[in-house]
Amino acid sequence: MKLDLPIVDDTSIWDSWMAMLNVPAISAAIELGIFESLNQEPVSAEVLAQKLDYKERAVRALLPFLGHLGFLNEYGGTWKLTPLAQHYMLSDSQFSWGGIFRREGRMMKRHGLLIEAITGKKQDQDGRDRPAESWESGQVDMDMAREVTAFMHSHSIAAAVGMTKTIDFSGVTRMLDVGGGSGCFAIALAKLDKNNRCTVLELPAICELANDYIADAGVADQVDTTSIDMFREPWPDGYNAHFFSNIFHDWSFETCRELTRSSFAALEPGGKILLHEMLLNDSGNGPYPANAFSLLMAIGTMGQQFTLPQLREILGSAGFVNIDSRNSYGYYSIVSGEKPA
Ligand SMILES: C[S@@+](CC[C@H](N)C(=O)[O-])C[C@H]1O[C@@H](n2cnc3c(N)ncnc32)[C@H](O)[C@@H]1O
Repeated sequence: MKLDLPIVDDTSIWDSWMAMLNVPAISAAIELGIFESLNQEPVSAEVLAQKLDYKERAVRALLPFLGHLGFLNEYGGTWKLTPLAQHYMLSDSQFSWGGIFRREGRMMKRHGLLIEAITGKKQDQDGRDRPAESWESGQVDMDMAREVTAFMHSHSIAAAVGMTKTIDFSGVTRMLDVGGGSGCFAIALAKLDKNNRCTVLELPAICELANDYIADAGVADQVDTTSIDMFREPWPDGYNAHFFSNIFHDWSFETCRELTRSSFAALEPGGKILLHEMLLNDSGNGPYPANAFSLLMAIGTMGQQFTLPQLREILGSAGFVNIDSRNSYGYYSIVSGEKPA
């Protein structure tokens, strides 16, 4: 099976998918008094989180997102209501849309999940769905593995093929795809050059599924899987690149530092670390898709999207040098670093 680059990128689909957060973001902000509080006193995300006893990670993701929707402006780190929010988001305004959003919010699962992420208080709702809790424990059952791997494959396959057309992979001949999911990135790299060898490092149930994706792609002679819990078990050696796609954004800064240290220790000297992520700009307040993805991470994982300076600091402090970043496909970038030879 050939993997050609699609003739249109998938950014419009990302926009439609992320738009699912628009209503829950507004309804949660109304319910939690965020518009009222910023109207009384414009403050930074950190101060607002402290003042209302909310989780800073979620508030940091929410405020720029509300900014993109036209409700907030940021000046020197301080968030202030726009006229749109003053007219329609405050409960004592004669034009308040509160009646709509309170009802809509009640009917949406992500409203409750967002309230939970912001307040840290469990909401009484069915079907809580946070694969990251299973990932943290290293225990994922087959039903969840099948659903989540298919989900990841859908959002990553075009980016996987795309990156092989835009990024220079010369010298990357033995790649460990850490948390590689369906194996789509390893498959794309194998298709780039028949001499490339890749291993997908994953939890056991996901390895089983990835083996099918690899066989279907016809690259089983170049790509294999290894069943390893990246937090609890030693990493294999013999690789000249470690690839992490959408892995760092699942975890706290401290956990990302731990993963970076494990990578640095196991990589061959002169080897590369490659992070495939949707980057925030340096202020953290844009672009919209990365802010939206960060909000989704606040709801479903322990992580957030990163700025390039944040990733530079994490990689640099583990010993990586020549840290660089390039747009790879659609909204994605690859941040690379080298282990000194
Ligand atoms: C957000 S998905 C990314 C999948 C793929 N890299 C992509 O971008 O499509 C995170 C992946 O990390 C894997 N993972 C999570 N915890 C892990 C652990 N403790 N050890 C190994 N893999 C883990 C999950 O199984 C999942 O496939």
